[in-house]
Amino acid sequence: AKDPVRILVTGAAGQIGYALVPMIARGTILGPDQPVILHLLDIPPAAESLNGVKMELVDAAFPLLKGVVATTNVVEACKDVNIAIMVGGFPRKEGMERKDVMSKNVSIYKEQASALDQYAAANVKILVVANPANTNALILKEFAPSIPEKNITCLTRLDHNRALGQVSERAGVPVSHVKNVIIWGNHSSTQYPDVNHAVIITSEGAKPVRTVIDDNAWLDGDFITTVQQRGAAIIKARKLSSALSAASSACDHIRDWVLGTPKDVWVSMGVYSDGSYGVPPGLIYSYPVTCAGGQWMIVQGLSIDEFSRAKLDATAAELAEEKAMAYLCL
Ligand code: NAI
Repeated sequence: AKDPVRILVTGAAGQIGYALVPMIARGTILGPDQPVILHLLDIPPAAESLNGVKMELVDAAFPLLKGVVATTNVVEACKDVNIAIMVGGFPRKEGMERKDVMSKNVSIYKEQASALDQYAAANVKILVVANPANTNALILKEFAPSIPEKNITCLTRLDHNRALGQVSERAGVPVSHVKNVIIWGNHSSTQYPDVNHAVIITSEGAKPVRTVIDDNAWLDGDFITTVQQRGAAIIKARKLSSALSAASSACDHIRDWVLGTPKDVWVSMGVYSDGSYGVPPGLIYSYPVTCAGGQWMIVQGLSIDEFSRAKLDATAAELAEEKAMAYLCL
């Protein structure tokens, strides 16, 4: 039998945590042959609720789940973890300035970075979900000097999946027949959902989305804003954030990273920019990537038209501004 993989979920008593931990315990990430030990971290005011989550995990009797460490101690939480899904963070409350939220999260991510740096397993893979996701991941990278930057990513797979969903509904095809949309940039309303290289699998083979959906006004307009604002639309409808789809997309992100993307398919991940596509190096920016052997690689050589160029630059500018703000908070 395989040794268990230790998976940390921070903010595990929250909405996304509650949806995510059963998915992990069922083997959604690494498959039905891979036992897991869950490490759950939250803060002291949520300790009782966190313990309730642990009780339910025991009660669900998941065959793959070999142990649960539920704690409010960051060091204990990070000890020997192979995968870390960072969902915990300080939410923006009514009347709060963006800078105040940033400042709270910068200090959380700085502390958790150094615990991961010192106590996580070598080669730990990290996914930041909590907002501002790209900038939290960047702070984590800065304060975890022993962890290679290629091991630190943020979640834009939910946006990617939302884009697949919108195209599939519009074209009237199963979502599994749509592939290679791209989310560029920040996990915020400046992100650019791009269908210029996306295809739909039809009975006559793969066709560009723009051929199947013959409506450029929609593709360059409402499609983009619907994906950009989908999070707010879910909050309005549910009075709660999009926990189910965020949790499921986080599993997709880690699964593809560890086990590899299917042939001819790319996905979107927030990764440390190397200057690809004219994006300034040193930002955590969402790119199209393929994964193999536990490593992601940015898809190269895609043509970028003028419309797209402006959108790639605008979301990069927002990330540069967030980075500057984060440094001021340190
Ligand atoms: P939530 O408020 O229900 O849960 C957050 C949890 O984090 C709470 O249990 C809280 O006690 C905990 N927490 C706060 N500070 C912590 C710390 N220092 N260490 C450990 N835990 C801490 O929020 P929800 O709905 O689960 O969302 C979590 C985060 O994910 C939010 O920042 C949200 O904006 C973000 N998000 C990101 C998405 C993405 O696609 N990247 C999509 C949806 C949400």
